[in-house]
Amino acid sequence: MQYLSTRSDRPLAGEIAVPGDKSLSHRAVLFAAMAEGTSRLAAVLDSEDVRASIAAVRALGANVDITAAGDRGLELTVTGWGAEGPRTPDVPIDCGNSGTTARLLLGILAGWASEVTLVGDESLSKRPMGRVTDPLARMGASFESPTGTLPVTLRGGGLKGIDYVTPVASAQVKSAILLAGVQASGRTTVREPASSRDHTELLLPAFGVPVGRDSAARAAWVDGPATVRASDITVPGDPSSAAFIVVAGLLVPGSRITVSGVGLNPTRIAYLDVLDRMGADIRIQPTEAAGAEPTGTVHVGYTPELRAVVVRAAEVPALVDEIPVLALLATQAAGETRFEDVGELRVKESDRLAAVIEALTLLGASARAEGDTLVVQGPSELRGTGLDSHGDHRLAMTWALAGLAADGPVTVSGFEAVDVSYPSFSADLAALSANS
Ligand code: S3P
Repeated sequence: MQYLSTRSDRPLAGEIAVPGDKSLSHRAVLFAAMAEGTSRLAAVLDSEDVRASIAAVRALGANVDITAAGDRGLELTVTGWGAEGPRTPDVPIDCGNSGTTARLLLGILAGWASEVTLVGDESLSKRPMGRVTDPLARMGASFESPTGTLPVTLRGGGLKGIDYVTPVASAQVKSAILLAGVQASGRTTVREPASSRDHTELLLPAFGVPVGRDSAARAAWVDGPATVRASDITVPGDPSSAAFIVVAGLLVPGSRITVSGVGLNPTRIAYLDVLDRMGADIRIQPTEAAGAEPTGTVHVGYTPELRAVVVRAAEVPALVDEIPVLALLATQAAGETRFEDVGELRVKESDRLAAVIEALTLLGASARAEGDTLVVQGPSELRGTGLDSHGDHRLAMTWALAGLAADGPVTVSGFEAVDVSYPSFSADLAALSANS
């Protein structure tokens, strides 16, 4: 599907609640599927990625009833497989485009003596799985994956805890190992080179599994085997989806937007700190937490004069999904913006490093890679062009925002990729535009 984005002659205005957090929605569905008893989940993101997790746990024997589906996302009743363990499915489990589904399921299934094959779409089938299967194999699971990518066939059970130092700061890797640790005997510890999002550590205790943490050492552990018990969870709005709305507000003159009910977990909102350093008019108002997850409201006002910033390697895990949209905004900032050590972008839903440089160049901006550092020189007048989403939801939304700032129309092909994380993105933008 092609999307046509043109410069807006009206500011974006008003209040909006973005859909449920994708990372938390996956975890709520997966942990409820592992649990003894029936969980009730509310405000779960209704998107292709989360639907992949729901279909996967159903195939593995969890009972998922969708009791409501509407503006407030999905309401689910999930009865998990508990102590019986997952059923062995007759056909491979299709994880679609979702790295979180695939990697977290590998960890969950590693604990059980069944043989399961995971497959994914073209993009997911190129993404590295060895970063998860290597530590899980050390715990005792066995894998067949000739290329280190999906399809992966797994045989689990009889796991022993390990103390593992991950080579990459990845919440998917950390979560997979901790989830395997739930079924393993003894302590399973994961240590990271930089802190990745900590949703698994915060949500597992709500399902009755204590998680030990040493923040200074960037370590987390579980003692297994542990019993996972049903829980009632309400998912806050996705700060990564909110980032697109916030940047839209910064690109369209005169805009003033309030994003309410959004997750404010510090391991997810480093982009707000970067925007603050760029001089953007941003205000954060914490409200009541959703369980262990901090939430609140973000106010943004159009800011004509933004300045370039340096985004350091240690910050990257806490804004890894926001780099494309921050790079777009950096084209409007005075000076050289540098995103250090962002090599991980090459193995996301697309090669985001190459795609961002290509698209910003087509838009008439100046962007290049210096090794693993992404460099954007601003400010630039953007021009209209045709851009390809590469089947990547975050690129599709970033390119759509480019059209709001360019002096000619931007067409985005493959725009349907937005359904992976933010199906109502264009409707939400249109509603904010209609408010002014
Ligand atoms: C996610 C972790 C991140 C992120 C992805 C979701 C998660 O991936 O990019 O969109 O839910 O744990 P990595 O763990 O590979 O960095």
